[in-house]
Amino acid sequence: MRTRTPYSPTLAVVTAAALVGLLAACGQEARGGSRYVPDAGKGSTVGLAMPTKASERWIMDGSNMAEQFQAAGYETDLQYGDNKVENQVAQIENMITKGHQLLVVAAIDGSALTDVLQRAKDAGTRVISYDRLILGTENVDSYASFDNERVGRLQATYLVEALGLEDDGETRTIELFAGSSDDNNTKYFWDGAMTVLEPYFEDGRLEVLSGQTRMNQATTQQWDGGIAQKRMDDLISRHYGSTAIDAVLSPYDGISIGIISALRSAGYGTEARPYPVVTGQDAELASIKSIIAGHQQQTVFKDTRKLAEQAVRMGDALLNDEEPEYNNTTDYDNGVKVVPAYLLDPVSVDADNTDLLVEEGYYTAEQLS
Ligand code: GAL
Repeated sequence: MRTRTPYSPTLAVVTAAALVGLLAACGQEARGGSRYVPDAGKGSTVGLAMPTKASERWIMDGSNMAEQFQAAGYETDLQYGDNKVENQVAQIENMITKGHQLLVVAAIDGSALTDVLQRAKDAGTRVISYDRLILGTENVDSYASFDNERVGRLQATYLVEALGLEDDGETRTIELFAGSSDDNNTKYFWDGAMTVLEPYFEDGRLEVLSGQTRMNQATTQQWDGGIAQKRMDDLISRHYGSTAIDAVLSPYDGISIGIISALRSAGYGTEARPYPVVTGQDAELASIKSIIAGHQQQTVFKDTRKLAEQAVRMGDALLNDEEPEYNNTTDYDNGVKVVPAYLLDPVSVDADNTDLLVEEGYYTAEQLS
């Protein structure tokens, strides 16, 4: 049984180094002070179940968390599921069998973990849903993510401004892409974007020539850039003969790259036919370079180091039987439970503020040159 450690608000310190210092201080107090402060989770292993190495962001999420949990005194077991649900379930099962006390899971399919998380519960393992909400189970303690609805609003607001929709009554053409249907974030991104775009569809300032305006017509299985490229090829050849596409709502950089490849093959990217305004998400290096080159126009930066920090803080609280800090306890209903969340703020990035990524130390100036 775990023994309770009193809550220390200063655990919410920002840097991993400070966290280490603090934990060391707690240990000293335990030895020297009158009250017993156990090391609780310290020394135990945290299972980090990430979805895929196909995208740079998850590689960074995994390594940031491993580094920061280790700095806070934990061992880590980092696994990638290769975007295959059965791999991820087997990896989580294995983590439970190995006795890991905490799991941090970025689900491949948010609805596919009910059984395995029941096993986690039975074994007393705590669970943090990371970036993507795990659905259909009460056996998830906390959710660490970004404000997903805001991501969609940032993308759509960028499109409205870049197209100058408020400047004249002209009609612009747009095509819409959504993320993977098995990822709970997909509908938050979509709904956020639609809240902003809806009025322009209604008064005709934005037109989707394909007519594919419902989310289930626009989803991209496993966020796959190749699938997006094929769909974009198809949309161009079927619906855009002499008419140019002015904008594409893309929810993720990997999808944007596929969209831009299709556009390039169809003759976009010239003076006569410039690229449409294409959005994105994750500030992946290839897309930042594409933004600097003027191909993609926008992305949404979600600092994976900060999300990792949040997961460490939450995990540390859970392992000490304390209440983690939350800033949203109403919006993330997984069908069985409203999962208390801590949501970070996403930031819109375009060619005018890519410097921010260097200033924040996310990339070096050389990487962007
Ligand atoms: C989402 C995540 C996005 C993007 C996408 C594809 O769940 O929130 O930031 O990474 O997956 O990996």
